[in-house]
Amino acid sequence: MKYKLPPGVFDIIPNDPKEKWRSSYLWQYVEKTIREVTRLYGYHEIRTPLFEKTDLFTRSVGESSDIVSKEMYTFIDKGERSLTLRPEGTAPIMRAVVENGLTNQSTVQKLFTIGPMFRYERSQAGRYRQHHQLSVESVGYSSPEQDAELIDMIHTLYKRLGIKKMMIQLNSIGTPKNREKYRTALQQYLQKNIDSLSEDSQKRFHTNPLRILDSKSPNDQQLLEGAPSILDHLDEESNKHFTKVQELLKQLEIPFTINEKLVRGLDYYNHTVFEITAEELGAHNTIGAGGRYDGLIKALGGADLPAVGFATGLERVIQTLLNQQAELPPPTTSSLFLVPLGDAARQYCFTLLHQLRQQNISCEMDFSGRKLGKVMHYADQIDTKYTAVFGDDELTSKQIKLKNMETGESTTVSIEDLARTLNA
Ligand code: HAM
Repeated sequence: MKYKLPPGVFDIIPNDPKEKWRSSYLWQYVEKTIREVTRLYGYHEIRTPLFEKTDLFTRSVGESSDIVSKEMYTFIDKGERSLTLRPEGTAPIMRAVVENGLTNQSTVQKLFTIGPMFRYERSQAGRYRQHHQLSVESVGYSSPEQDAELIDMIHTLYKRLGIKKMMIQLNSIGTPKNREKYRTALQQYLQKNIDSLSEDSQKRFHTNPLRILDSKSPNDQQLLEGAPSILDHLDEESNKHFTKVQELLKQLEIPFTINEKLVRGLDYYNHTVFEITAEELGAHNTIGAGGRYDGLIKALGGADLPAVGFATGLERVIQTLLNQQAELPPPTTSSLFLVPLGDAARQYCFTLLHQLRQQNISCEMDFSGRKLGKVMHYADQIDTKYTAVFGDDELTSKQIKLKNMETGESTTVSIEDLARTLNA
């Protein structure tokens, strides 16, 4: 084949029997559930462009982050501007909040978006160069209830979708001041073993030592075993906030574990951070993650407002549902497939379909005029509930014989009663 997709991207097709997660009916199911849950929690949709000026991400996600330093799809447009395909949703949403003056009307803004994100990552199962996120962001509340509500929301969404086995990991990374102190303590601790650290961690030692905690190298992890904990470096306020978030989660009986090594790879976070991993997903098993980012709106030129949010990767969510054998809806199908025989029947059926659709009945007809066997084979494939052959007899009697494709049974109904029968 001459034209093939570049690595790391994929098509979503109506029904893929081999890679089921690429089936659009499953994406629709997830998106529908997302819309139900976001509505329950009072969040409203926002849609921002797929590209932004590059410095939005450099400024917010951070120069030393993997996303900015290695993974952005950046290009110069014909007007000599540096633009970047959005690698994540938080910075664009906050840019839009400021640019549209949304907080002038109310300082509280509860927003979500669903859409593609772009990162030049090593492409492999669960990691794509175009992936899709639900990004949920709440502006204006600094209280721990807002952190806990978002964790409750993502947990509720996963449960409603059918994810059974997941783990919520929670941490607090405090204020920038707390982190400065912790950074020094961590560097002091690692200094003696700096030469034994992995190459990546050695680089991070000076630029972003907290990210060493995230290292996948078993040797790094061993060296970190006795490392100081960020939780011992939180000030009283941060500690209070973190304790309250935990109390609220316990109050709602949401299970979580504290992971004091969880720091997140984006620079804008403070206080609460969390990640949710799913069982049976393989190496890239983080399905959702988020945290508080109180300084970001101000850094982007807006008011000094607190904010907290999360994002979840839809590919990984659908793959988890399939791997955990969740109960999922079947592909959508039509109620009726009509097979007209002859020109007069064809003309009649064309109007009949139009009328049925006005009554919210999904129905189709054959336009090909191929041999009956072939048309019925197609009807079988599209998995319609009923089929009906419509010829001169039906035209005269205004009676139609509906064949139930699942049971094979036939029932004759008058055209007048057709809509009622199909809706039953
Ligand atoms: P993130 O952890 O970079 O956070 O991404 C969120 C989720 O997107 C991940 O947990 C994962 O499920 C999915 N994801 C990320 N990269 C890929 C990829 N290459 N392929 C497949 N899935 C991927 C953020 O983006 C933050 N904006 C989250 C946030 C919102 N924090 C506060 N508000």
